Order: sequence, then C-alpha cells, then structure tokens
Amino acid sequence: MLIDGFGRKVDYLRVSVTERCNFRCQYCMPEKPFSWVPKENLLSYEDLFKFIKVSIDEGIKKVRITGGEPLLREGLDIFIKMVFDYKNDIDLALTTNGFLLPRVAKKLKDAGLKRINISLDTLDHATAAKMAQKDVLETVLEGIQAADDAGLKIKINCVPVKGINDKDVLEVLEFCRKKGYVVRFIEFMENYHAKDSIKGLNSDELKAIISSKYPDFEMVPRDTSSPAQYYRFEDGYEFGIIEPHKDDFCSACNRIRLTAEGYLIPCLYFEDAMSIKDAVQNNRIDEAVDILKKVLQNKPEKNKWSVKDDNEVSTRAFYQTGG
Ligand code: GTP
Ligand code: 5AD
Ligand code: SF4
Repeated sequence: MLIDGFGRKVDYLRVSVTERCNFRCQYCMPEKPFSWVPKENLLSYEDLFKFIKVSIDEGIKKVRITGGEPLLREGLDIFIKMVFDYKNDIDLALTTNGFLLPRVAKKLKDAGLKRINISLDTLDHATAAKMAQKDVLETVLEGIQAADDAGLKIKINCVPVKGINDKDVLEVLEFCRKKGYVVRFIEFMENYHAKDSIKGLNSDELKAIISSKYPDFEMVPRDTSSPAQYYRFEDGYEFGIIEPHKDDFCSACNRIRLTAEGYLIPCLYFEDAMSIKDAVQNNRIDEAVDILKKVLQNKPEKNKWSVKDDNEVSTRAFYQTGG
C-alpha cells in the first residue's frame, strides 16, 4: 500500500504518454509560440510499462492514460493491452479530446479498455472551433459515437468558459442525458499559460444554470476516488461538478502523476517533481520505487494550482501534467 506524508492512501496513477496535442484549447494551451519536448525525451512504452507494473505491485489500483492528446501516440492500444495482460482487473481508463477516436475506438476496446473520458465543451460548431482553435466538433462527435458503438463507457468533461461556451451548458447536459453519458462540468483552473481573459463558471453559477431548467437535483454522497461531486436528477440521471476552487478534495486525494518525460508529480502543484526515467531505463526498479515513495512524502497537503497572483505559481500547463 502507498501512503503519503499526510497518511493518505494513494492508489490512482495518472500517466501522460505525450504532451503534444492536436487542439489548442484556450483554457489549456499557451498563447505564445512554444516547442514540444523532443520525442526522444519521452519514456518508451516499455519503460512506462515497467513503472506501471511496479506501481501496481506497490498498491496502485487505478491508472489513467492522459496527455496532451494520448491518442497522438502510435500504438496506444498495444500499450493498453500490455497493462491489462499484466493485471486484468486494473481500473485503466483514458482521457482524450476524442478527435482520433473514429479510427481507434474499436481497437481500444479490443485491447481491453472499458471506459473513456472525452472532452466536449459545446455542441455548437463555431464555439468548438473558437475554444479548440480548430474546426473539431464534427469529428469529436463521430469519435464519441465510435466509442459508444465499440461498447466503451463514456464520461464527458466540459469546461464552461464565460463568453465562449457558458451558453452551452444545458445543451451539453441534455445531449449527455439523452445518450446516457455522465457529464462533469469542470471549473476552469487558472494557470500560468492560459490567457488572463479566460474566466470559468464557478460551481454556484453552474448550478444556477442547471436549476433554471431542472430545479430538483440532489447531491450524491461523495466518492473520494474521483475529483467530481455528483448530483442526481429525479429520474436517476447523474452529472458531476469538479469544483477545485471550493472543494476540499485534497484532504482525500488519492493520486499521483507521471509526465511523458518521466517526472513524477505529487500534485497539480508539482514543484517537487522527481524523474524516474534513468532508473527505469536502466532497470533499477527498486530505485524507481524509492523515488515514488520519496515523491509521496513530498505530496503537499493542499493543491495550489497556479494562480497568477499567488507566490507559488506552477509553470506547467495541464497539457504537460496530464490534467
Ligand atoms: P474518473 O475516474 O472518471 O473520475 O476520472 P478523473 O475525473 O479522475 O479523470 P479526468 O482525466 O477525466 O479528469 C477530470 C478533471 O479533473 C481534469 O480537469 C483534471 O485535471 C481534474 N483533476 C483530476 N485530478 C485532480 C486533482 O488532483 N486536483 C484538481 N484540482 N483537479 C483534478
Ligand atoms: N482547468 C480545468 N480543466 C482543464 N482541462 C484542461 N485544462 C484545464 C483547466 N485549466 C480539462 C480538459 C480535459 C481534462 C483532462 O482537463 O477539458 O477534459
Ligand atoms: Fe489538448 Fe486537452 Fe489541452 Fe485541449 S485541454 S489543448 S485537448 S490537452
């Protein structure tokens, strides 16, 4: 079992396989030009697998593959199969923007994947193009359908931003409700890279919008293994809100992050990152476990995601930390 310095049990590993992305979501990507980490700096699937294996042996029960956009990395289905072949009851899931799903959804399912989280910020083509800075909606919707047809269990993530897609909250909710997908609305988390002008809806504003159409929904008892607080309509449909500005999910935080370059990050506030790259590349697996335990000792009590007027500013964006 993995326990951090504050006695929290850590059993959830988020693994980023690439920081590259084919979208430029306004709440995530820097405005200024930047360069990607060279591909040769990334951990190979083989090395990532070595670390995942030993993490599972040490007590990790839930693994999420993230990015950037993880499906940009070739052969992800083969990697997923490697993990399932090692432990077939692992709760392994993927977070994606959905754009490449039309091609790969079935392969992912065949590799053993059962569930997938897909971003969908709006159902309006122009708004989607504005948010992602690319014309994406039609392909994303095809991707969602392909995942559904393949039999993957779908959750939708939506980040409502004032003046862009805040008008679309009810439509996204309705779409998900009809399709039977759980939707989570995520409060925008300020970060060093996103434009100052980006302001997210907070959870009270979100709830007010939802109540205008559905006055009756009740809070579902909190499952601390997920960052979302869920709410239930009378007909049983559930949606979630991820509210980092107010939620105290840090007190029950169960997660740790591995970047595509091999840095272990104890929290979205991650200044104490340590690299496991050299250890796994050279098969010094015990050393990788020691690093993991050290990073857990350094896991902060509270999440301080990068708020620009805070002295403790994180300099990496979500596409780099894997969200
Ligand atoms: P489920 O297992 O389906 O609940 O997945 P998940 O919600 O853990 O994963 P997902 O990748 O869909 O993340 C949804 C959102 O939650 C993203 O915006 C994440 O950045 C955010 N999130 C995940 N973990 C944390 C955390 O520790 N702190 C904060 N503030 N946000 C988090
Ligand atoms: N604040 C909140 N959510 C964000 N995401 C990316 N950047 C941010 C941010 N700054 C979301 C994406 C995706 C999930 C993994 O993280 O929309 O659904
Ligand atoms: Fe890419 Fe996801 Fe960031 Fe959008 S939020 S730019 S899809 S990594």
